[in-house]
Amino acid sequence: STYKVGYFVGSLSSTSINRVLSRALLRLAPQDLEFTELPIGGLPLYSPDFDSDYPAEAQALKAAIAASQAVLFVTPEYNRSIPGALKNAIDWASRPWGQNSFDHMPAAVIGASPGQIGTAVGQQSLRAVLSFCNARQMTAPEAYITFRPGLFTDNGEVTDDSTATFLADFMREFHDHIERVLTVLPRS
Ligand code: FNR
Repeated sequence: STYKVGYFVGSLSSTSINRVLSRALLRLAPQDLEFTELPIGGLPLYSPDFDSDYPAEAQALKAAIAASQAVLFVTPEYNRSIPGALKNAIDWASRPWGQNSFDHMPAAVIGASPGQIGTAVGQQSLRAVLSFCNARQMTAPEAYITFRPGLFTDNGEVTDDSTATFLADFMREFHDHIERVLTVLPRS
């Protein structure tokens, strides 16, 4: 089946390696996954004061997640956690109380860093947040991408066969995870 996947890029950097990784993932994903970016850069900082009257950017985020059947997080690690901009977006989407956008939603997490263990701790931090939000996370395979110069072109072509195979497998597993979750009990 065809599934609509909304994806977050956790970095606001104009030269983000995680954005490059997201381009590679979109290229290598099964044909029957359709992708829409869930933009986070225009959101104000969340406050409960907005719960009775969400600003347009936050309404658009919740609408875009509602139009998705699954969510993918492609994010750097900041100080052994996730960037504040991504946490802010998740906080917006999780509210108002009783209208958590991630409830029962299939989700996957991946990230790139220049270092060796990069994003492993940040991904665990994100997984804790998504657990509380009751997302249905793919637990394996895990993917901690070490971004060395030349591994990707800027538009997301992967120059190394084993990395391309690994990322394609990751996306096929995500497709199958979505199918398992939604076949048992589709989101209404
Ligand atoms: C980092 N970086 C980083 N890397 C890492 O592996 N673990 C970490 O905890 C951190 N912490 C951190 C904090 C802040 C504020 C910055 C700006 C950077 C380095 C980070 O992996 C590197 O800058 C990546 O290039 C960030 O990903 P994007 O923005 O290029 O996608």
